[in-house]
Amino acid sequence: MTIDNSSMESVSHEERKFSPSSEFVDAAHISGDKAYRALYEKSIQDPEAFWAEAAGELHWFRKWDTVLDGANAPFFKWFDGSRTNLSYNCLDRHIDAGLGDKIAIHWEGEPGDSRDITYAQLHIEVCRLANALKVRGVQKGDRIAVYLPMIPELAISVLACARIGAVHSVIFAGFSADSIRDRILDSETRMVITADGGYRRGKVLELKKIVDEGVMTCDCVQDVIVVKRGGDHLVDCPMMDGRDSWYHNLVANVDDNCPAEEMDAEDLLFLLYTSGTTGKPKGIMHTTAGYQVYSYLTSKYVFDLKQDDVYWCTADVGWITGHTYIVYGIMQNGVTQVMYEGAPNHPDEGRFWEIIEKYKVSIFYTAPTAIRAFMKWGNDWVTGKDISSLRLLGTVGEPINPEAWIWYHKMIGAERCPIVDTWWQTETGGHMLTPMPGATATKPGCATVPFFGVEPAILLDDGSEVEAGILAIKKPWPGMLRGIYGDPQRYKDTYWCKWGGKYYFPGDGARCDEDGYIWILGRVDDVVNVSGHRIGTAELESVFVEHQDVAESAVVGISHEIKGQGLVAFVTVIDGRDQDENLRNELVAMIDKGIGKFARPERILFSSDLPKTRSGKIMRRILRDIAEGKDLGNVTTLADPTVVEDLQKQYLKA
Ligand code: PRX
Repeated sequence: MTIDNSSMESVSHEERKFSPSSEFVDAAHISGDKAYRALYEKSIQDPEAFWAEAAGELHWFRKWDTVLDGANAPFFKWFDGSRTNLSYNCLDRHIDAGLGDKIAIHWEGEPGDSRDITYAQLHIEVCRLANALKVRGVQKGDRIAVYLPMIPELAISVLACARIGAVHSVIFAGFSADSIRDRILDSETRMVITADGGYRRGKVLELKKIVDEGVMTCDCVQDVIVVKRGGDHLVDCPMMDGRDSWYHNLVANVDDNCPAEEMDAEDLLFLLYTSGTTGKPKGIMHTTAGYQVYSYLTSKYVFDLKQDDVYWCTADVGWITGHTYIVYGIMQNGVTQVMYEGAPNHPDEGRFWEIIEKYKVSIFYTAPTAIRAFMKWGNDWVTGKDISSLRLLGTVGEPINPEAWIWYHKMIGAERCPIVDTWWQTETGGHMLTPMPGATATKPGCATVPFFGVEPAILLDDGSEVEAGILAIKKPWPGMLRGIYGDPQRYKDTYWCKWGGKYYFPGDGARCDEDGYIWILGRVDDVVNVSGHRIGTAELESVFVEHQDVAESAVVGISHEIKGQGLVAFVTVIDGRDQDENLRNELVAMIDKGIGKFARPERILFSSDLPKTRSGKIMRRILRDIAEGKDLGNVTTLADPTVVEDLQKQYLKA
């Protein structure tokens, strides 16, 4: 793999530093920097003892024989020999401890409907669905796709799968029918759980219809279970005889109790597809015991969770953030959380602050792109609301610019709440670099220090350590991915080959500052982060070239004021074909169909050719510079420098 280091922008040297208040420090799980450093040291010197102690806080049907088995690296095993169940640790453990009446989820629908669900009620709902799945013939190891809006049934479906050992593959409800089909075929999914529709910005998204189109050519799908989201009038929802069943009918006729399956440590828990550098998304594999311990402990320490907290993560369960920090990590800690279905600006831009006021949210975890949108909407939406219940803030998904960080700190955190800027990935399962809220002095825009047991390094291609370069993780950690579904070689090649199989390669650039803090500088590969959504430029390119008039295309990421990054597509049109608005609209429609609307480029530019080296390689750096209006510098290595002039002229005109 070649690394294009030119995409690593150097962030400004941020001098400001913010320490947690002594009140926060005194009450925190990790209290003060000294405590963090001592525990970190312990976790690196003796990781097995550290992780065994953490695992001891959870329930095991059988304890492990070994904590870490690296005999077949990079196919590491954690807690081998153990038997456990994630749904048991999220539900039964709390009920056994007498917390059954505690609210697990304050759910708020976009139109204003709401439901409060206790841990005991959630247990019943999960058991019922688990039993219903069994009645439909689902067995341990079967893959089940979940394509739902942010309604309680999404969390229930995930936990019901975990309860019986079925493997969930949640597909974010913004993905298109083609994306559903590709994911279902790749993992030979036998069932899909969906809904008639879901609300988004006042409109109904007709999910079942998208599923119908997606599974049309998927013979492996035997069952489609449909949640009725909005009563009888939401949308017309045709059901196919023999394949489709209503969720509410299935769960009405089954037992309230379903014993949790005793899962082996490395049994597959879930698949989550994510973008890489090719046109084909990867089915990231997470297994049971290690992910369980990692999601539990990161949640506990990074969010400093206490029994009376009301936590709210605004992510969708369709992404890894929702898997770990809405479902598994948070529920294992037995706290109360808010789950919200819809958009932050419906019915108006004050919705989030109203929700915080209504439920007295104490911990709020969101994405920088949302924070930038709040800033743009103006302070008036916030000032009228009582958000004084907040005590801790978090961000995730992309680098946060210092300006947005400061706004968040002042306007939302009242200069009182620590901010945890958490760097991690679908593949890492949980937080990797993050401040400890009661220990780390934060710097705006900086993910700061490693979580326990995580040993980062910044390296060059040749493995030498540098101040600014490519981020590497030197040691395995329990939450790490275990593979790419159906493609062990791709797992090795993508993540473990860069430094001779020794270290994990996450694909991000990083810089270490004078305090030893790590700053994430963005991706070093062709993955772009649009509003915190990870998109491979190759995925768009492979959609464009399906069009009969397109010869070639190159998609690049550019900085975007709100989204963090946006996409710009350069498309070479076959000689003699029209380069007009019609073609542009057709190409946009193809992205909607091939990936989903969230992957639409900001601009599509037509060209007769693309800038290439003499050996024929597309010079993406130049395309990025054109798209960002930068000085192009030296272009003499190009086979045909006039191509660039043409593109530049067009870009300025467009
Ligand atoms: O580039 C990093 C960026 O998001 C990528 C991972 O994307 P995904 O697997 O979709 O997971 C997102 C939610 C964990 C990373 O490779 N990223 C994530 N968090 C941060 C970040 N970049 C900078 N700062 C962060 N806090």
